[in-house]
Amino acid sequence: MGSLQGKKVILGISGSIAAYKSAILTRQLIKAGAEVQVLMTTAATSFITPLTLSTLSKRDVYVDVSSESGWNNHVDIGLWADAMVVAPATATTLAKLAQGIADNMVVATYLSARCPVFFAPAMDLDMWTHPSTRRNVASLLEYGDTLIPVGDGELASGLVGKGRMAEPEEIVGFLEDHFHKASTLKGVRALVTAGPTHEALDPVRFIGNRSTGKMGIAIADALATAGAEVALVLGPTHLGPQHPAVELIRVRSAQEMYEVCIKRYANAQVGVLAAAVADFRPTQISDQKIKKGGNQGMSIELERTPDIAASLGKTKGEKQLLIGFALETNNEEANARGKLARKNFDFIVLNSLRDVGAGFGHDTNRVRFIHANNKQEQFELKSKAAVAKDIVAAIASYLYQK
Ligand code: C5P
Repeated sequence: MGSLQGKKVILGISGSIAAYKSAILTRQLIKAGAEVQVLMTTAATSFITPLTLSTLSKRDVYVDVSSESGWNNHVDIGLWADAMVVAPATATTLAKLAQGIADNMVVATYLSARCPVFFAPAMDLDMWTHPSTRRNVASLLEYGDTLIPVGDGELASGLVGKGRMAEPEEIVGFLEDHFHKASTLKGVRALVTAGPTHEALDPVRFIGNRSTGKMGIAIADALATAGAEVALVLGPTHLGPQHPAVELIRVRSAQEMYEVCIKRYANAQVGVLAAAVADFRPTQISDQKIKKGGNQGMSIELERTPDIAASLGKTKGEKQLLIGFALETNNEEANARGKLARKNFDFIVLNSLRDVGAGFGHDTNRVRFIHANNKQEQFELKSKAAVAKDIVAAIASYLYQK
């Protein structure tokens, strides 16, 4: 069965001569087993009729946000879809998508869609190379959308160069590839920890750390994108996962995180421990706010928190994977290797606070994987989302070996 079987795809068509290829694209998507909802801009209807596309897709085609029969619900359509493709995407439509100018059904639906979005630009070569277009494309890439590259060759203007819309087969290939990848971890249950923990001193104060949870949240999202069933155990942070399928369990202290993890890891295949768990907590939690008193100082007695990673490592079965993090400031490799062995990880993701752009709060990270079999992989500075994808790829290759 092909990867497009049963998938719900929105095809947004804007006004370019390449719109004539949309009929073939629609037909091929339908043949591959997808359900296709066509949306068109008014300009697109000058190049190809809605009747052609509704006949091929066997569904009504929407052009306006409202019609005589009422309001065409772009929110429902956006939430219905597994993927959205804007093809052809004209310079104007790229600008509207980048800026969120929702004056038509294609852009309004784009803003409501939670699914991955692909765009296949089509325009003349000078329009394609114009800084304005470049900036709009860069914005869409930044939002996480995928560019289906333009082709090179004869253009409708008679000029020859870059700007042709990708052929329908190529566009279908991009979608197939996406859905294939999205099912690599289908049925795999994963537990991810992220964020700091807060260890209470009294009802208003706590001991904490600077973790924001970004890295672990990105991993939870990437695992869910790959089809895994993800439970994210998240310490106190204002951030949260994007992927609607991630089950979010918010906790405060190391103890709470420990209790959830012990329960959840028992029936998970993968554990990724990216939380910056406090190592110590106050021995006593005052149930009243602690008063300053006189001018004397004060000391707080601390005790160890449970080591979640080490506990899960002890119970780890043959078919289970456990991945940990090491954030180090010195003796990076030796420290990471020590943790890898002590906590029974399959591999450990090492990041050094000495690297510019790596560690707490940044959107980027520079990591090294150290595997239990001594293999090492060093990566460049990348976005945390890209690092998360590398981690997911490593997890997938371990699972296929198990
Ligand atoms: O704190 P430490 O550097 O030992 O953390 C290494 C790894 O162990 C990380 O993956 C972290 O999430 C995990 N850890 C844990 N429970 C603790 C301390 C650390 O799961 N109490």
